[in-house]
Amino acid sequence: MISSFLRRPTAPTVALVTGLLAAPAVIGVIAQERGTAAPAVAIAVDASKSGAKIDRNLFGQFAEHLGKGIYEGVWVGPDSPIPNTRGIRNDVVAALKALKVPNVRWPGGCFADDYHWRKGVGPDRAAQINPDWGGVVEPNTFGTHEFMDFIGQIGSRAYLSVNVGSGAPQEAAEWLEYLTAAQPTALQKERAANGHPEPYVIPYLGIGNENWDCGGNMTPEYYLQQLKTFARYSRNFNPAQREGDQRMLKIAVGPGGGGPRWTEWTDVIMKGWKARQWSWDMDGLSLHNYTVVRFPPKFASVGFGEGDYATILQAAIEMDRIITSHSAIMDRYDPEKKIALVVDEWGAWYAPLPGSTPGFLAQQNSVRDALIASLHLNIFARHAERVRMANIAQMINVLQAMILTDEAKMILTPTYHVFKMYLPFQDATFVPVSFDAGTYRHGDITLPRLDAIGAKDASGTLWLALTNVDPNRPAEIVTTLAGFTPRAATGETLTAPAIDSVNTFEAPTTVVPKPAQVKVEGNRLTLTLAPKSVTVIGVRP
Ligand code: AHR
Repeated sequence: MISSFLRRPTAPTVALVTGLLAAPAVIGVIAQERGTAAPAVAIAVDASKSGAKIDRNLFGQFAEHLGKGIYEGVWVGPDSPIPNTRGIRNDVVAALKALKVPNVRWPGGCFADDYHWRKGVGPDRAAQINPDWGGVVEPNTFGTHEFMDFIGQIGSRAYLSVNVGSGAPQEAAEWLEYLTAAQPTALQKERAANGHPEPYVIPYLGIGNENWDCGGNMTPEYYLQQLKTFARYSRNFNPAQREGDQRMLKIAVGPGGGGPRWTEWTDVIMKGWKARQWSWDMDGLSLHNYTVVRFPPKFASVGFGEGDYATILQAAIEMDRIITSHSAIMDRYDPEKKIALVVDEWGAWYAPLPGSTPGFLAQQNSVRDALIASLHLNIFARHAERVRMANIAQMINVLQAMILTDEAKMILTPTYHVFKMYLPFQDATFVPVSFDAGTYRHGDITLPRLDAIGAKDASGTLWLALTNVDPNRPAEIVTTLAGFTPRAATGETLTAPAIDSVNTFEAPTTVVPKPAQVKVEGNRLTLTLAPKSVTVIGVRP
């Protein structure tokens, strides 16, 4: 199985989007707005055209030692009354397995540059302070072997971040040898004594995290030198990963947004890469960008009105502009798109839930977050030539999570449901769609009212994802298909009673997908999108 994000040749992407941020009136509104009724939207899909592969790695997750992300969220320990397998909770594993999570980034985040892997292996674990997230005691009971067991249980793959900020190249080099050596070295024997004689597969390696800030406040030039050194010495010795598609891909720290500080960062790293010598290389450049408006986060995750709804969605679609600006710089140094842009931290970052520990980044997850997830996944799909991996922050109990737990209880969030609905897009081939998004207005904010992407899977099924941003008006959709004769169409739609509807431990199914009603007539599909909704339709030939 090829599961790396290495670039493989694709048909050139043609006539990409006319949705988000695009000029209106491409296909035309097919019924004019009357009173408050919204016009129907015509979507044209030419299934004979194709673009890039939508890499399954775009649906990656991020799990940091932060708040209840790992402890309680994943790890309860083998003696817990919560059902578990070797200390890892069974309910969470089952839920994540169903998401086919392609990769999990670990152990941080800022924590990665405070992490010393030796404290988390062997029978005697050295407790430390977690200085980044609340100054709590980090027991290190969840370490390398427990993480690898966890991703094995959910059927995922490892994306480790080595410590560049407070660690040395030797520490990173030894962690990699401990993980991957097949020959009888001291570190291989230690790993075997700790229960895993076979080398682990480490497909993705992050060289630090945000080393421009919590990872050591480095200048781009200083980080570039660190990158060269760490990339050189972080070797993967697993015989199965020596070369080709299975080799370990190295991801450099990239920008943290879209302003001049960040475009300069991208420029310095890409220029350094272009001038590289044989002794080092990289395969990806990370990008971090949260839907936050500004730090410190002050928007509430629940109990908000339409003003906040519109402001946050406006911030979410900024991702498109940010990716576009960094991609343009990368194109200058890497026109062949060898280096992937890896959006390994994205998602909504709100004010901490009242009563929660502020350093734990606990927040609720509403239908608005479902829209944020779908808008981001659509943006990534449209940039799939360059953006080939992404990790939502974070997997469980932290920021825009998939899963929330309260001791033994677990609920799935609206964001989880969107990731599940988008499963058919993993490794599918992008198909261009054209439409006039129209507008949704609230106060002085104007947003595209609709977003849509299309893709074809290996079986020939055509998939459409449709997002109605407007929280007040349904959208009638008439889709015309060219190069494809539809036989049947089915799908799911996710909406909610209110713009801030959430799932709770008492009412866990307020925001869940329901079957969508689609009519197929000749080469036309018609359906109505509920206000504030995400819909995914599969059209079989
Ligand atoms: O996801 C929370 C934090 O956000 C991460 O630790 C850090 O990389 C980023 O600033």
